[in-house]
Amino acid sequence: MASSHPNNVGILAMDIYFPPTCVQQEALEAHDGVGKGKYTIGLGQDCMTFCTEVEDVISMSMTVVSSLLEKYNVDPKKIGRLEVGSETVIDKSKSIKTFLMQVFEDSGNSDIEGVDSTNACYGGTAALFNCVNWVESSSWDGRYGLVVCTDSAVYAEGPARPTGGAAAIAMLIGPDAPVAFESKLRGSHMSHAYDFYKPNLASEYPVVDGKLSQTCYLMALDSCYRVFCEKFKKLERRDFSISDSDYFVFHSPYNKLVQKSFGRLYFNDFMRNPSFVDEVSRPTLAPYASFSDEESYQSRDLEKANQLAARDTYDAKVQPSTLIPKQIGNMYTASLYAAFASLLHNKHDSLVGKRVVMFSYGSGLTATMFSFRIRESQHPFTLSNIVSVMNVSDKLKQRVEFPPEKFVENTKIMEHHYGAKDFVTGEDCKYLLPGTFYLTKVDSLYRRFYSKKDAAAQT
Ligand code: ACO
Repeated sequence: MASSHPNNVGILAMDIYFPPTCVQQEALEAHDGVGKGKYTIGLGQDCMTFCTEVEDVISMSMTVVSSLLEKYNVDPKKIGRLEVGSETVIDKSKSIKTFLMQVFEDSGNSDIEGVDSTNACYGGTAALFNCVNWVESSSWDGRYGLVVCTDSAVYAEGPARPTGGAAAIAMLIGPDAPVAFESKLRGSHMSHAYDFYKPNLASEYPVVDGKLSQTCYLMALDSCYRVFCEKFKKLERRDFSISDSDYFVFHSPYNKLVQKSFGRLYFNDFMRNPSFVDEVSRPTLAPYASFSDEESYQSRDLEKANQLAARDTYDAKVQPSTLIPKQIGNMYTASLYAAFASLLHNKHDSLVGKRVVMFSYGSGLTATMFSFRIRESQHPFTLSNIVSVMNVSDKLKQRVEFPPEKFVENTKIMEHHYGAKDFVTGEDCKYLLPGTFYLTKVDSLYRRFYSKKDAAAQT
């Protein structure tokens, strides 16, 4: 790579890892004694992935980083910056990034900048922006950036529990990328809120005000969209509307919120200029045009009207990005990028030239709307190669379904191990595929030890 001024900086390569253990949402509904359809239709989720005692955010990130380097044949010495986004706290001082340096030991490369970024589900976006900004800066040394988003989303028993999930995503950053940032198109909204937070350091579970978190998400979305549209207008000297982007990808705590969010963008366009939306949907939205902001966030009728009005556009511009989040659940920092990976998986052969608008949200709260332009590129950094490396269909099929009782049993073991020392894991890694890293023990000084499942091992 030349170190002259880089163009089209963005994502060159991606890989995704999620644990092979999952529970079906339909089975969980019956087990939890809630109405049939509450998790599958009410939340829009199909299945939920979770870590067993041999996996955590560190092992998942080691697995995905070593897999990416190997599958794209990237020399570890060519990584100059490694940024991690995560909200799963294992250590209050030692970063996940430092654990990942073990993957680089054999190469002798210890000259790698970057640490962890944390703010709920937004840390991955902060890490991504850090890498992109580094490549675009005067301190860039011509090497690649590497971003890792890794989280295990777990909730206490109750209505939030079915919105868990777990995964790690790695993204290689550099110039001439097939997924290039439109760097000037970014709209952020950041403010103080107690919608979802983790003040109890003895527990992995968040304190969550579910309803408030939904409203905060939608308010942040409105604000980011407003700023994004203003920036677009300054650059292009015309208004932005939904028709200016081919796809919209959202942070996805659960699919219903994504449906509501796109409906909300549609309503925004209607309020800005009714001609921005389809003529037939205008009468559906017109009764709500006089609502105050506050009324509009509280009205379930408006929510339903938005979703109805936007349905066809949602199917075309959003639905292709929903596969992995519906199957895995919320992956916190990895969720938005898993949604983007779903879009690549479903549409990779027709994406060149298209614009993709991304919306990142992290409780507390921080949010940014930004955009990618998809470009032609050279092997190995092509969309079709990214899709074949990620191998999403096979990974989804290879999962092992746990009955809800066994899932609950597993959460108890994980609660017991959280923050604990001086234990060995059962080392039962029979569900893991060869090449997967796993936790073997935590010693009396809280030091964590990992192994890699032998490539020759039986699965
Ligand atoms: N069949 C079909 N739908 C049903 C059924 C049923 N039997 N029962 C309920 N529903 C629907 C409800 O009507 C509701 O739909 P709506 O939102 O379209 O009105 C939906 O299921 C959810 O049910 P509620 O009773 O409204 O909410 P619940 O108490 O189940 O909590 C919540 C849902 C708030 C999302 C909870 O799971 C939670 O707190 N999750 C974590 C917080 C979160 O993810 N927030 C998002 C942003 S922050 C972040 O990313 C972490």
